[in-house]
This record gives sequence, structure tokens and C-alpha cells, in this order.
Amino acid sequence: SAPLRLGLAGLGTVGIGVVKIVQAQAGLIAARAGRPVAITAVSARDPQKNRDADLSAYAWETDPVALARREDVDVFVEVMGGHEGPARLATEAAIAAGKDVVTANKALLAHHGQALAEAAEAKGRLIRFEAAVAGGIPVIKALTEGLAANRIKRVMGVMNGTCNYILTRMQSAGLPYDAVFEEARQLGYLEADPNLDVGGIDAGHKLSLLSAIAFGTRVSFDAVELEGIGNVSIDDIRLAEDMGYRIKLLGVAQLTGRGLEQRMTPCLVPADSPLGQLQGGTNMVVLEGDSVGQIVLRGPGAGMGPTASAVMADVIDIARGLRLPTFGIPATALAQPVPASSATP
Ligand code: NAP
Ligand code: HSE
Repeated sequence: SAPLRLGLAGLGTVGIGVVKIVQAQAGLIAARAGRPVAITAVSARDPQKNRDADLSAYAWETDPVALARREDVDVFVEVMGGHEGPARLATEAAIAAGKDVVTANKALLAHHGQALAEAAEAKGRLIRFEAAVAGGIPVIKALTEGLAANRIKRVMGVMNGTCNYILTRMQSAGLPYDAVFEEARQLGYLEADPNLDVGGIDAGHKLSLLSAIAFGTRVSFDAVELEGIGNVSIDDIRLAEDMGYRIKLLGVAQLTGRGLEQRMTPCLVPADSPLGQLQGGTNMVVLEGDSVGQIVLRGPGAGMGPTASAVMADVIDIARGLRLPTFGIPATALAQPVPASSATP
């Protein structure tokens, strides 16, 4: 049957990971998807950059909006990043042109997910974003498919690997925050704007997306109570350790009697618990459903292979003909959440 044709916007860590999987696993993907999957065109800023991949078979577009509108593209894969500018414009253009969208961009969806999902669904198109939350961990699939029969009671977890790396390293090496932050920068772990990581914003974006699916509510990133790790001192870490605890940037989303509570803040967790033992850049997401009880998902939250693995899982679902709404139910049916913080006590 006819190949599913991808337009790939972004040839950085994630984009090149996608190229590598498409090229290395063509047979396996075709078998599992029921049809071949091919990249037809790509886009990035710098056409001269050496990208450690053979891109010679793909058409080049300097403008991602032009890529999104190409007739030989069925699915627009957005792995550029940023919640305004080209990522937003090109995603809107793709939807307007009747393409499905796969994105790894949590910032874009945390800010514009409702409008984008409504626009896509009005056109009979879909947006999928497995890679945007917890990298290689299939947490969106777990919520929308595996746990579809459950009323979700709580979503909790460590969703930013960089913060977990910094906190783990401070604890294990006894180094102060500034020294480990610099180490993380040199290792290339930090986002271009490091405050997205250490300010808890990136993890807050992810939590707001999981909340929307879990509770059937519109994405409400502005209502996430956020506190980053910038004020966590080595003394805090030592004191916690002395009491048998570790400090983690922990997200919690739950429906309470006061409304929807969404928090992404440094928390004490028992040192010998699975969360306390979570090392380096690993993520862990805990889901609680009324029938299933507790599910724990743990794995790589970032990196070329894990993130591209999640992007391609979405692509394969589209090739298979799976037509799930972006947030599990139609975007127009999502309820307006009442944030717990705004309710009168
Ligand atoms: P990256 O390495 O910085 O790559 C970004 C790519 O987008 C680059 O190829 C860049 O082009 C291209 N780009 C940026 N602005 C552009 C523009 N105006 N027009 C055309 N192309 C443009 O970023 P990344 O780490 O792959 O992340 C991509 C997305 O995935 C982000 O939304 C990120 O939050 C998300 N994500 C990343 C990870 C991870 O582990 N890296 C994990 C989960 C989710 P040039 O190469 O020419 O500069
Ligand atoms: N900066 C993010 C993290 C990348 O450290 O988890 C993956 O979303």
C-alpha cells in the first residue's frame, strides 16, 4: 500500500533520531504499521550543518510552514521546539492544510494545545504528542488507551531529567547547586533557556498535559503551582538525607474537593522509595486509576533514541489508522477546570 509520507521539521537531537529510526527500521515499521513510512521532506535553519545522517533523499525546505503545506506530506512532524514562532505557525499551517501532526513540543501544547486540538479535530485531523511527556516512556498511551476504562485519581512523578540529574548529583557527590548546574550545562543537558528546566516550567508543561488527559479538562498550565530547584541548597539535601529523605522535583495532579490541584515543586520523598532511588536523567510517572490501582512507569525521559522512539510510535499509530483525539476525548468536550487554588476555602 501507499507509504505514509512525513515532513520532518527540525533536525536536531530528536529529528535526527527520527531519521535514524525511519532508515534503520523500515521493514519492521512497514510490517507493524501495515504500510511503509517514508520521510519526503525536511526542514531546519542551517542547510550546511553536518548532521550525522544521510538526508540526500529528502527535499529541503528552509521554511517549516512551506514544509507543512507540501502536497507530498501526510504527517507533519514538529521537532523544532518553542511555543511561538515557527513551531506554532507551521503546526497551524499543517492543520489548515489537512495534515495530521506529531510533535515532541510540550511548551507548544501547554500554551496552545486546546486551540490546536480543536482546529485539528474540526478538520478531522489529529495531533499526537507521546514524545512531549517523559520522552521514551509511553505515558500518553497508558492514559488514553491502557487505562481508558479507569477514572484517574492521581498523576504523580518526576518529569524533568535535568532537574533529577542535578538533585541526584548534589546528593551523591556533595556538590553545591551552582557547581552541578555548570556540570549539567557542560554535558549539554540544559535547555537553551535553562530556566525551563530548573524553574520547573518544562516539567509543569508536561504535568498540565497529563492532567488534561487524566481528568478530561482543558490544558491549564497557568494554574500549575510551580517552584523550581534553584533554591535547593546542599544543606537542604544533607538535612533531608539525615532524616531518611531525598529531594525531588515532583509533580502531582489530582481532583480534590476544592478543584483541580496541579503542583510541580521540590518535595521530600523517602530515600528508599522508588522515587527516592530515581537516578540521573530518568523519569518516573505514577498513575492511579479506580479499577487498576497504581501503575508505575519508569525510563529515559530524554535523549535521541528514547524521544524518537516515542515520535515514531505516534507515526505508526497514524499509519495503522488509529484516530484518537489529542487529549483522549474530543477537545470541545474537555471541561473547564476549577483550579484548587482559586476555590474559596
Ligand atoms: P534541537 O536539538 O535544538 O533541534 C532543534 C531543530 O529545530 C534544529 O534542527 C533547528 O535547526 C530546528 N529549528 C529551530 N528553529 C527553526 C526554524 N525557525 N526553522 C527551521 N528549523 C528550525 O532540539 P531537540 O532537543 O531536538 O528538541 C526538539 C523538540 O523536542 C523540542 O520541542 C523539545 O522540547 C522536544 N523534546 C526534546 C527531547 C530531547 O531529549 N532532546 C526530549 C523530549 C522532547 P538547526 O539545526 O539548523 O539549528
Ligand atoms: N529538558 C528536558 C528534561 C528534556 O530534562 O527532561 C526532555 O523533555
